[in-house]
Amino acid sequence: MKTTQLCILTGASRGLGAALAEQSLRPGARLLCLSRREHPTLAALAAAAGAQAEQWAVDLAEPAPVAARLEAWLAGLDDSAFASATLINNAATLPRVGPLEDSEAGELARTLRVGLEAPLLLSAAFLRATRAWSADRRILNISSGLGRRAMAGSTAYCAIKAGLDHASRAMALDGARVVSLAPGVIDTDMQVHLRDSDPRGFPDHARFVALKADGQLDTPAQAAARVLAFLARPDFGREPVADVRT
Ligand SMILES: NC(=O)c1ccc[n+]([C@@H]2O[C@H](COP(=O)([O-])OP(=O)(O)OC[C@H]3O[C@@H](n4cnc5c(N)ncnc54)[C@H](OP(=O)(O)O)[C@@H]3O)[C@@H](O)[C@H]2O)c1
Repeated sequence: MKTTQLCILTGASRGLGAALAEQSLRPGARLLCLSRREHPTLAALAAAAGAQAEQWAVDLAEPAPVAARLEAWLAGLDDSAFASATLINNAATLPRVGPLEDSEAGELARTLRVGLEAPLLLSAAFLRATRAWSADRRILNISSGLGRRAMAGSTAYCAIKAGLDHASRAMALDGARVVSLAPGVIDTDMQVHLRDSDPRGFPDHARFVALKADGQLDTPAQAAARVLAFLARPDFGREPVADVRT
């Protein structure tokens, strides 16, 4: 009988991704996590939960070899065990906040590669390798409200998230079951980075400071629970662009 839930998750070392990984550890779960650093306690948590977790220390700013490795890894699995197979493209970086002309070329390229090139290459590898599988296949792209509403000082970040949204619409037209989901505003390193940014060239700075001061941020655990509930919805993929808050 097919009982195993396979999940491939990027950016599981901290923040939202770490909470997604922790909450995915149920008996029968098989998790593959991809980030530069490992989640420090995931192996022990998986063992305690009766789940399988594997972590690859990879840099998604160089996504092509990672996608090739993922495709080969998936091709080597016996799909008869899997009731479901899910790819969660969660990893992203927020470059230094400020106008585009002040950006550093290498940082700009890494942002685009981790946030958009990697999700598309990993999605292609996932869809190709699992094409003949009978498992319920889903792709969840973690987007942002900033993919839909532009913010000064964040050109590259807005571009990766808008790109994920529109790519998901196009993938859905090709038959993929995919959602690009805004996860809410979460108390992670990314929010620290925004609050620590230079307010010059960043008119929204005070709003992010207030979100923290007023207790408006979700904890990673709260956000992960909402994201995973969305992922489990029977109508997942009916709308390829969505917000966990609506
Ligand atoms: N926090 C928010 O308020 C918020 C709001 C809307 C959307 N989001 C989205 O939610 C997702 C998670 O964000 P977060 O707030 O949890 O961010 P975070 O705390 O900064 O964590 C980012 C994750 O991405 C991984 N990552 C970054 N660069 C990588 C690279 N080159 N290669 C591999 N992995 C890399 C990091 O792992 P390593 O450093 O170990 O590589 C880390 O696990 C992102 O897509 C973000 O855009 C967040």
